[in-house]
Amino acid sequence: MSQAPITIRWGILATGGIAKTFTKDLLVDPTTRGVKHIKHTVVAAASSSSKPRAEEFLRETGCPSPAKAYGSYEEFVKDPDIDIVYVATPHSHHYQCAMLALEAGKNVLCEKAFTVNAAQAKALAAKAKEKNLFLMEAVWTRYFPLSVYVRDQITSGRIGPVARVLSDNSMAMDPERSFSDGKHRMVNPDLAGGALLDLGIYALTWVFQTLYHTQPESTRQPPKVLAALKSYGPTQHADETTTMVLNFPRSAEEGGDAHAVATTSIRVATAPGNHTDVPGIRIQGPKGEIQVFPPAFRPTKIRIILKDGTVEEKEWPQPGPGRGSGWYNGFGGDKNDEGEGHGMFWEADEAATALVEGRKEGKYESLAESILIMEVMDEVRRQGGLTYPEKIESTEFPVQL
Ligand SMILES: NC(=O)c1ccc[n+]([C@@H]2O[C@H](COP(=O)([O-])OP(=O)(O)OC[C@H]3O[C@@H](n4cnc5c(N)ncnc54)[C@H](OP(=O)(O)O)[C@@H]3O)[C@@H](O)[C@H]2O)c1
Repeated sequence: MSQAPITIRWGILATGGIAKTFTKDLLVDPTTRGVKHIKHTVVAAASSSSKPRAEEFLRETGCPSPAKAYGSYEEFVKDPDIDIVYVATPHSHHYQCAMLALEAGKNVLCEKAFTVNAAQAKALAAKAKEKNLFLMEAVWTRYFPLSVYVRDQITSGRIGPVARVLSDNSMAMDPERSFSDGKHRMVNPDLAGGALLDLGIYALTWVFQTLYHTQPESTRQPPKVLAALKSYGPTQHADETTTMVLNFPRSAEEGGDAHAVATTSIRVATAPGNHTDVPGIRIQGPKGEIQVFPPAFRPTKIRIILKDGTVEEKEWPQPGPGRGSGWYNGFGGDKNDEGEGHGMFWEADEAATALVEGRKEGKYESLAESILIMEVMDEVRRQGGLTYPEKIESTEFPVQL
């Protein structure tokens, strides 16, 4: 006899764009994607600006009526009904907000980029360990069935030992026009703005999940990094285009050193004019390559091309309530097709499953790997001379931002 699903009670911290998308996906019936052992509900949401803003968020996202609205993050984290907090503030605020939740004894799923720097990521990981709480960076793409499939192809030797990964996540955002006052989180130094932390994290995600995560834990080693970073003119302390060359040391038996080029930009696009037929990610081995089509953060299509002439294409449309449901999700101005989820439920399922199983970290990206990627981004910023204001780089807690 199958067991009744266990319900995980979420609290949503912040009410912006991604909080809305995540919460709508969270409330989709998990059986629509074949998940039967857990369910999700939202019991509270908090806005730093006002309680009515949180009330409006709960209404807009269709949260069940007993869900509570808070006008303060500090009050919200004390709510005894919350099992896990989803942190959806700009990355400048992740450290303070995740620490606030951990200090209050809450498990945490924290949006990407995890923190502003590796020191903050280490401090959060140490706090979670001290309090025996679950903590995971919300790199949703890692939990897509598409990503699981790609990693399986690599570990099963389909293309041979990965020798090189070319990985881009760029969007031509026309920043001077779109963010003309310089206050938007994409370009604002006070919000840790720039391409690297916001978009580059996905270029690095594909490099790490195919070239690092797929190696045995006991032998994998951090990469050496060489970076070029171009500052965004109007605000200076934010990058508009960043290019990283990474060398991953590997034993001769495992294929020897492997290379990656990870690129990101808010000036030029991976898929100009939304022409997604350009492979933004190419994972190359001696027997062939795996191509992943844009966007890097929400891919639905891959192609495998092998030396023996095999060409395989595979698609993963996002599940959801389906056509005829009258339900829509999407991010910002973009709307998905009717009934099609955004894909954020996969990471939520993993976080919920970890809580049920008593695990303290995500299955497909450990805290050590999140910290290592933050270290790479620290080094890229060091080489490119990109610093942020002291108070958002700080590991002090609490700090009023
Ligand atoms: N996984 C993804 O696909 C994805 C996509 C986009 C963004 N993100 C990540 O999610 C985070 C939020 O992005 P977003 O697009 O949702 O941003 P957003 O629309 O600007 O929302 C951010 C929210 O954070 C809260 N906040 C608290 N202090 C703030 C401050 N000083 N300035 C601005 N907002 C503040 C606000 O909510 P309250 O007023 O309610 O407190 C605001 O609505 C970022 O770290 C970003 O990298 C992830």
